[in-house]
Amino acid sequence: MKLVGIVGSIADQSYNRMLLRFMSTQYRNMADIEILDISDVPMFNQSNDQSDSPAIQYLNHKILAADGVIIATPEHNHTIPAALKSVIEWLSYNLHPFTDKPVMIVGASYFIQGSSRAQLNLRQILESPGVNAITLPGNEFLLANAKEAFDESGMLKDDRTASFLGSTLQKFVEFVGVIGHLNGRADNPGASEDLYATGNCDTTVKDVDMRDPQWLEKAAEKTNAVSGDAYVKLDRGLLTVNQIDRFLKTMPVELTFADENNQFIYYGDQGHDPKDMLASRTPDQVGDPLYYVHPERALKGVATVINNLRNGKTDLFVLPVPGNGPTKHLMHYYKAMHDEDGVYRGINEWVVDLWPIVASYLKQTGKKLVDDPNAKVAATTGASSSAPVEPDPDASTGASEEEEAPTAPTTDASTGASEETEAPMADATTKASDADIFVAEVDETSGASEA
Ligand SMILES: Cc1cc2nc3c(=O)[nH]c(=O)nc-3n(C[C@H](O)[C@H](O)[C@H](O)COP(=O)(O)O)c2cc1C
Repeated sequence: MKLVGIVGSIADQSYNRMLLRFMSTQYRNMADIEILDISDVPMFNQSNDQSDSPAIQYLNHKILAADGVIIATPEHNHTIPAALKSVIEWLSYNLHPFTDKPVMIVGASYFIQGSSRAQLNLRQILESPGVNAITLPGNEFLLANAKEAFDESGMLKDDRTASFLGSTLQKFVEFVGVIGHLNGRADNPGASEDLYATGNCDTTVKDVDMRDPQWLEKAAEKTNAVSGDAYVKLDRGLLTVNQIDRFLKTMPVELTFADENNQFIYYGDQGHDPKDMLASRTPDQVGDPLYYVHPERALKGVATVINNLRNGKTDLFVLPVPGNGPTKHLMHYYKAMHDEDGVYRGINEWVVDLWPIVASYLKQTGKKLVDDPNAKVAATTGASSSAPVEPDPDASTGASEEEEAPTAPTTDASTGASEETEAPMADATTKASDADIFVAEVDETSGASEA
């Protein structure tokens, strides 16, 4: 479960930030809590709308993508601090990320009241129509005497206090689950995917705008990236950067790499003009968050696929993209990548036209394709006749707007085969290996005997 914890204080040294940090480390088995600071957010001013500013959009996207929110509020003169109020103003003016969002309130203060009045004040604010959050009644955690509550390593000194905090968080996690069902989030696993890539992973290049058309050049400079004839030691070989580039460009598939932060960081164009690619991509897109390289209509499907790969629900998602004429059968494959510890590290997407392979097989074996009268798919397109169709979920396929593609189906974790469509995609993943097929192609063109 993905939660965000908003620090209601902009003080450099904040007990409320310490409280959220404690929660995110101590209860990591209950929920993934990402801490959000509000220090960069300007004071709310209706005459100077800054809803689109990076600081406010950052909070907006993070809250939208989260399953629930924890707000840790200080108490200033019996209410929440002005900085926190100002943030909520921005997030209830033109933006409304809190709408129907489960919110848990906690607070730390110097004195014995432990932020009780600020918490009541915050509860009242969150229920206003512009905010419209859903707070769990009666689930209060108040940390009094905050100055004495933590040890040097930021842990709560009193075990009973820590245990009570854990029980309130547990109740909130259950509450988030219930609200998620009511909101339909349970049926939409992609709802917690951050396609804006507002987070960081350990390879994210900091201080370079992801949307900059020159992202590749600037990020390469920032990281002192090697290029040209510099050697790179790989797991099973030693190649120069030029050799790697040549190698990838001659793969019989078009490759795309999106990292675990949902940033699009590489594609292989095989030397083709973008318009001649199976899935058109352009150099200026490299570095973009995935949100910006897909059309609006495709985002839900994209987020669902990524979330299923991230959470191990499936390891491979296979998507036929029919409608490219009788001599093309495009397939998109989305494969989860993991590091040596099994941690999700992004997606390897490859796009391939299967038709030359099928044609080669038919030519070599003397077989021909015939319609199966019992098949539930349209023989010419591969699209399921019963399944609802949606336009192509990949922004950059180069496929026309009118073309049909199956709705992103749920996939079978073991085979990657679709449960919803009966398109013959299983063959591609479970029978003859790609290597065998491509060897056959080479043999044919080189005149090697079939025997
Ligand atoms: C202007 C001001 C007003 C305060 N009013 C209260 C108050 O009404 N009740 C309270 O318990 N603490 C009050 N405090 C003390 C806070 O508990 C403490 O400064 C601080 O907000 C703790 O949160 P933080 O460390 O996360 O910033 C006030 C502090 C300031 C600076």
